[in-house]
Amino acid sequence: MEKISRILIDEESIAKKVKELGKQIERDYAGKTPVVVAILKGSIIFYADLVRNINLPMRFDTMSVSSYGSGTVSSGNVKIKKDLAKDICGEDVLLIEDIIDSGNTMKALTSLLEHRGAKSIKVCSFLDKPSRRTTDYKANYVGYEIPDEFVVGYGLDYDEKYRNLPYVGILEITD
Ligand code: IMP
Ligand code: MG
Repeated sequence: MEKISRILIDEESIAKKVKELGKQIERDYAGKTPVVVAILKGSIIFYADLVRNINLPMRFDTMSVSSYGSGTVSSGNVKIKKDLAKDICGEDVLLIEDIIDSGNTMKALTSLLEHRGAKSIKVCSFLDKPSRRTTDYKANYVGYEIPDEFVVGYGLDYDEKYRNLPYVGILEITD
């Protein structure tokens, strides 16, 4: 059994934050045509809102990696479930992630894409739980640093549920 115990970030705050992030990315990538990669499925809502706040030419791509099963503890085991559609050699790649927890997923992914010859790789994560790091990792852009709570909504799921909530809520799980 589980329920949303509290709203952590409301819809209005999210819209403001996403706009700020978009403008920052727009400034940093001026003159470039980045390949903006949605890390499926958690980032799709954030991705859709973010790219509409970046007024630059860009290419879309998606990737799916597995780290969590239906539980709430990271396995540290990253597997590519769906790869990019096009080669990113020589490209400025911006990965869009929902949340950074242990840091294992993004650390492994960025080093993999570096090996494939990307010109630059940066990560923009909507949320970050720095207190949960098990590896040395820092994203380039972060929407919100949050405490060690399991959150859902705005793309984030618990067992594939709650992704469509327009806000971020704290999920309380009881048996
Ligand atoms: P990491 O490799 O531990 O950083 O894993 C990050 C991934 O774990 C994210 O992309 C999410 O899919 C998942 N995750 C971590 N914390 C949460 C949470 O609070 N709610 C929902 N998913 C989470
Ligand atoms: Mg997930």
